[in-house]
Amino acid sequence: MIGVFDSGIGGLTVLQWIRQRLPQADLLYLADQAFAPYGAKSTELLQQRCDRIADWLIAQGCIVLVVACNTATAHCVDALRQRLPFDIIGVEPGIKPAALGTRSGAIGILATENTLASSRYQQLASRFNPNTCVVNQPCPGLADAIELGPDTEQIDAILTRCTAVMTDAGVDRVVLGCTHYPLVKDRLQRLLGTQVQLIDTGEAIAGEVARRAGSAEWGQGSTRLLTTGSLPRLQQLIGAYPVLSSHFQANQCEAAPDLSDLAQTTGSSSA
Ligand code: DGL
Repeated sequence: MIGVFDSGIGGLTVLQWIRQRLPQADLLYLADQAFAPYGAKSTELLQQRCDRIADWLIAQGCIVLVVACNTATAHCVDALRQRLPFDIIGVEPGIKPAALGTRSGAIGILATENTLASSRYQQLASRFNPNTCVVNQPCPGLADAIELGPDTEQIDAILTRCTAVMTDAGVDRVVLGCTHYPLVKDRLQRLLGTQVQLIDTGEAIAGEVARRAGSAEWGQGSTRLLTTGSLPRLQQLIGAYPVLSSHFQANQCEAAPDLSDLAQTTGSSSA
């Protein structure tokens, strides 16, 4: 079985590619919505939370783990790999394809403030400087707004502000550096214009999972979507975003067991 997690519905944009790529694999997804957003939590708290979730997924029988969250990968994947004897695949902003493809020489990265501030991300970005101008744009509140559903004005307000910076900088590639952002891809494309190419690494991650899956691929093709938050809300969100409803159904959703043995309010900083 393959275990996949994120702070919420964002990781489902990766899971849908894994589902397509490995039709026989049993997939167990955990949306940690009770603890979201990850983008503004302290590293210490994120590490505790990722440890808790990874241990739980392994206890369920997962032998491959996918950290389907750029923020959690940036802060936790190294520690998880050191501690656990399993294949652990993370996601990172696709700077490399953006830098290789740009013609204007300027690329934009949309991500959480926590991802952009991490030393893992800064090392990655420094490999492409100074040849490429990398415009880092944190999008505080965007993952949260996406979690409220597609019809909120908040999403458009944040996207308008973040894309204006990109347009002013003359970028021709914009990296979706948070797994929630593919859910608003069409709106981003409209704001940026068709001359700007959006880079989403979900499909490439699924390819990497397929390469490393081994016997985790031999299952019944089941998909279970668990949330630490509200079950009706997860079901509603899956119905509300077409990219999710075309791959997942409400009857695949379940409430997660209680993983709340960490204080949920400590360690937050303002988003
Ligand atoms: N989906 C997550 C990511 O890729 C983070 C969203 C959040 O802030 O919780 O970074």
